[in-house]
Amino acid sequence: MKSIPIILLGCGGVGRQLLDHIISSRSLHSKQGIVIRVVGVSDSSSLLVSDDIMLSGMRDEFLAEICRAKSAGSPLKSLLNHGHCQLFRGQDALENIVSIASSLGRSTGLAVVDCSASAETIGILEQVSSLGCCVVLANKKPLTCAIEDFEKLVSHFRRIRFESTVGAGLPVIASVTRVISSGDPISRIVGSLSGTLGYVMSELEEGKAFSEIVRAAKSLGYTEPDPRDDLSGMDVARKGLILSRLLGWRINLSDIKIESLYPSEFGPDSMSTDDFLAKGLSQLDEKLKERVVTASSKGNVLRYVCVIEDLRCNVGLRELPKDSALGRLRGSDNLVEIYSRCYKNSPLVIHGAGAGNDTTAAGVLADIIDLQDLFA
Ligand SMILES: NC(=O)c1ccc[n+]([C@@H]2O[C@H](COP(=O)([O-])OP(=O)(O)OC[C@H]3O[C@@H](n4cnc5c(N)ncnc54)[C@H](OP(=O)(O)O)[C@@H]3O)[C@@H](O)[C@H]2O)c1
Ligand SMILES: *[C@@H]1O[C@H](CO)[C@@H](O)[C@H](O)[C@H]1NC(C)=O
Ligand SMILES: *[C@@H]1O[C@H](CO)[C@@H](O)[C@H](O)[C@H]1NC(C)=O
Repeated sequence: MKSIPIILLGCGGVGRQLLDHIISSRSLHSKQGIVIRVVGVSDSSSLLVSDDIMLSGMRDEFLAEICRAKSAGSPLKSLLNHGHCQLFRGQDALENIVSIASSLGRSTGLAVVDCSASAETIGILEQVSSLGCCVVLANKKPLTCAIEDFEKLVSHFRRIRFESTVGAGLPVIASVTRVISSGDPISRIVGSLSGTLGYVMSELEEGKAFSEIVRAAKSLGYTEPDPRDDLSGMDVARKGLILSRLLGWRINLSDIKIESLYPSEFGPDSMSTDDFLAKGLSQLDEKLKERVVTASSKGNVLRYVCVIEDLRCNVGLRELPKDSALGRLRGSDNLVEIYSRCYKNSPLVIHGAGAGNDTTAAGVLADIIDLQDLFA
C-alpha cells in the first residue's frame, strides 16, 4: 500500500467535506493501492497533530468527530482529549508543520492542503514546498497576493495543484496548462466564474428585477452572507488573476479592471447589509434592466465575465452573442471558453457546476491523488 500523508489547513465547509470524501473513498483508494493518512488538521486558532505521524494518522472516527465539532462551531482545541494527538498554537504550530515536512516531505511527498480562506498561509506553504512537500490549494489568496509569492509557489510546478481555485471541481486549470504545454498559444480566455453572478444574469434575462433576484439568491443560500461579496466581482477577479498568471503574465490584482454591480456609496463602509438588501438594491434595478434590453435588441445577452486577452484581465458585464457557449449558459453553472491557435474559431469549452463544498473538495482530493504519481 502506498501511504499519502496530508496536513489539512482550514476545516470549514470545504475542509470538512474533504475529510468526508477521504473517509468514504477508503475502499476505492485501497483498490488503487493508496491510503491517505491525515496527520494534522488546523483551524484559525490551532493545529492538531496525530501522535504517530510516521506510521499512522488520525483514525476515521476521530476525523468524523472533528467534522461534527467544527460544524457545531467548536474550535479544534475542544477535541484534544478525544484522539491520540497533540495541540499546537501560533508559532509552535508553524514550527511543527515544518518539522513534519522535514521528515516526510522528500520521502513521501507529504501534501499540505490549504482549504483555509486566509492569506496568512503563504509563508508556511512556501516553506513546506521548499522542503519537498506537495501543496494543494482551494484557497485563492496565496496565489493572488504578490506576484513573487505566486512565482515561488508555482516554481515547484510538479508538486503544486490548485485546480479547485477556479471553477471548483471543473478541469479549468488543467485544460489551460495542457494547452500551454503543447505550445499552442492562448489568445483569449472568457469565463463566467461565479455561480451567484451566473444565476443573477440568467434570471435578469428572464425579465426579473435585480433586487428580487439577489434577495431570492440570498434566501436560497446561493450568495455569501453579505451578497456584496459576490456582487463586487472580487472573487471573479482573483480567479481571472490566477488564469492570467498561469499564462505567464506578471500582473497583480490591482491591475485588473473590476466592474462592481453596486456603486461605492452602497458599499459595506457606508451601508449595512440589511439596508443594502432593503433599500440599496432596488435603486439598481432600472439601469440593469436597460442594459439587458439594449443587449437583447442586438441579439446579445449580458454576462458577468472575466476576459483575459492582450495582456489584460477585465472583469465585469459584457454583451455576448446569444448563440455562443456563454450566451447559452443558464443558472449557476460555470463556463470557460479558451481560444488559441488550435481552438481559434471553435473554442475549448469547459462547463459544469462550478461551486459548492462537495465539488470543490472532490477537486482537491483528485489533486492530492494526482500528485502522488511522483512518489514511489
Ligand atoms: N465553497 C466553495 O464553493 C469554494 C469553491 C472554490 C474555492 N473555495 C475556497 O476554499 C476555501 C475554503 O472555503 P470554505 O467555504 O470552506 O471557507 P470557510 O468555511 O470560511 O472555512 C475556512 C477555514 O479556514 C480556517 N482558517 C482561517 N485562517 C486560517 C489559518 N491562518 N490557518 C489555518 N486555517 C485557517 C477557518 O478556521 P475557523 O474554523 O477557526 O474559523 C475555517 O476552518 C476558501 O479559500 C474558498 O475561497 C470555496
Ligand atoms: C458549505 O459549507 C458551509 C459550512 O458548513 C455551509 O454553510 C454552506 O451552506 C455549504 N455550501 C453549500 C453550497 O453546500
Ligand atoms: C505589481 O507587480 C509588479 C511585478 O510585476 C511589482 O513590481 C509591483 O510592485 C506590483 N504592484 C503592486 C501594487 O502590488
